[in-house]
Amino acid sequence: MIPKIDPTSTSSWKLLQTHYKNVQAIHMSHLFEEDPNRFQRFSVQQGHILLDYSKNRVTEETMSLLRSLAEECKVAEGIKAMFAGEPINETENRAVLHTALRNRLGAPVYAGETNVMPAVQDVLTQMKQFSNRVISGEHKGFTGRSVETVVNIGIGGSDLGPHMVVEALRHYANRLDVRFVSNVDATHLVEQCKGMDPETTLFIVASKTFTTQETMTNAHSARAWLVEHLGDEDCISKHMVALSTNRTAVEIFGIDPANMFTFWDWVGGRYSLWSAIGLSIMLAVGPAHFEALLEGAFEEDQRVKADGVESMSGILALLSVWYGNFFGVDTHAVLPYDQYLHRFPAFLQQADMESNGKSVDRNGKRTAYETGSIIWGEPGTNGQHAFYQLIHQGTKLIPCDFVAFSQSLNPVGDHHEKLLANCFAQGMALMQGKDEYTVRKELEAAGKEGAQIKALLPYKIFEGNKPSTTLLIDRLTPHSLGRLIAIYEHKILIEGLLLNVYSFDQWGVELGKDLAKPVLENIQGDSGSDALDSSTMGLIQAMLNFNERTS
Ligand code: F6P
Repeated sequence: MIPKIDPTSTSSWKLLQTHYKNVQAIHMSHLFEEDPNRFQRFSVQQGHILLDYSKNRVTEETMSLLRSLAEECKVAEGIKAMFAGEPINETENRAVLHTALRNRLGAPVYAGETNVMPAVQDVLTQMKQFSNRVISGEHKGFTGRSVETVVNIGIGGSDLGPHMVVEALRHYANRLDVRFVSNVDATHLVEQCKGMDPETTLFIVASKTFTTQETMTNAHSARAWLVEHLGDEDCISKHMVALSTNRTAVEIFGIDPANMFTFWDWVGGRYSLWSAIGLSIMLAVGPAHFEALLEGAFEEDQRVKADGVESMSGILALLSVWYGNFFGVDTHAVLPYDQYLHRFPAFLQQADMESNGKSVDRNGKRTAYETGSIIWGEPGTNGQHAFYQLIHQGTKLIPCDFVAFSQSLNPVGDHHEKLLANCFAQGMALMQGKDEYTVRKELEAAGKEGAQIKALLPYKIFEGNKPSTTLLIDRLTPHSLGRLIAIYEHKILIEGLLLNVYSFDQWGVELGKDLAKPVLENIQGDSGSDALDSSTMGLIQAMLNFNERTS
């Protein structure tokens, strides 16, 4: 069991409140002026990843108080409990063992009485054998042709993780065209499947529960499309596989369990890309790269086990609690300066917000403090030309994480130097800002005078003092990507432990799913349900009226 300590009841929390009052007005540029070693003091390099958190509104005292908070909240015990397979997801009575999926030493890991490692190895072997057959063309479709296109049908964790990784590792991709369909909006299926040949298409139905409405609706439509074009129900065994924990539902759907890749209830959906849910990744880049991804994550797991809050994940979590609860910050931008990572913010949105977006603590009480932040972002430099204005000069404080790679996988001209120059310059601009004196001098140099200068001055000043953290990695490889993802996964774990919330359940997604049922009944004319409010009924009626007029 994990400790259940209200962070606000600790003495560190109270000290942090006083400390905040003392440091809130300090400008980071002064901290840099005062301490020529600030970068060395507030950065960590481990292997090929550097975490620079010197451009944050922290002093040595801040970090030491945050570490004490982690101690008082017994974060180390929580980390240990997770790795040990204790049922730390208490509201679902489940262990949280995605780390066992990348346990590359194969040492036993127990969920209850069961050592999960033999089953983990078996599924990995099954995935490798299948992937090798598909990639080599040995696996034949119903008409004897090899697979050319793979479509992963899944949503949430059964889509975001694998999709993000497949995009991130495009540089390492083989001949297979791997696509993703998640939305129940048929447009997604139709547009993603355009130009596909049913004879050479393999659908992966990825769903932990195998009951998710969106996924099952898309899977049924995909099956109908296959049967219609290939003319025989038997084609399913060659063109559809399932990734799930629910063998019965897979069988009922009509997929032979021999074509099923299983995983277990101790793998959370948003932490499942390392499991059978990663089959689309393995198909896209091959087993060796998939295993390198696992190895990268495993390496980070070892660090977090050993270093706890001193790890990169720990530092990110401490900073997040500092901003969220003492500066009153609501949102956090994640800004990858690499086009391959364009799905990374979307992936992190689920990973972080579904995990720590909670308002009831581990004692069943409403939290009197802030929990998970709103995660959002776009790849640099696109974001610079869209929303950075607000980050630089808006009224909100938005900590930013920049993620960049030293080397480009596509070294063309000086693109990469320019990309990195932009990344580093943004962090610098956010931190330094531009003061009145400098703006005035610039306006004078540009030939402006008295009244003109006075009028323009306020618009051209940058307050600065906006926090950012930079993760600089040598090169985007499956291994470094594995580490990067694990760093953020463990950041979420540690932040949840500090905030005394259950990070591994997601009850908040249930109500909307439940209500979709009576709403659908009403839309489909099966009314009689008076449970719907007048606004929802009004919307349904208006929709039906529009459709009547246009039909
Ligand atoms: O969004 C809610 C959720 O339960 C996620 O946690 C999960 O990743 C997603 O739905 C998909 O669930 P499944 O894999 O069971 O289809």
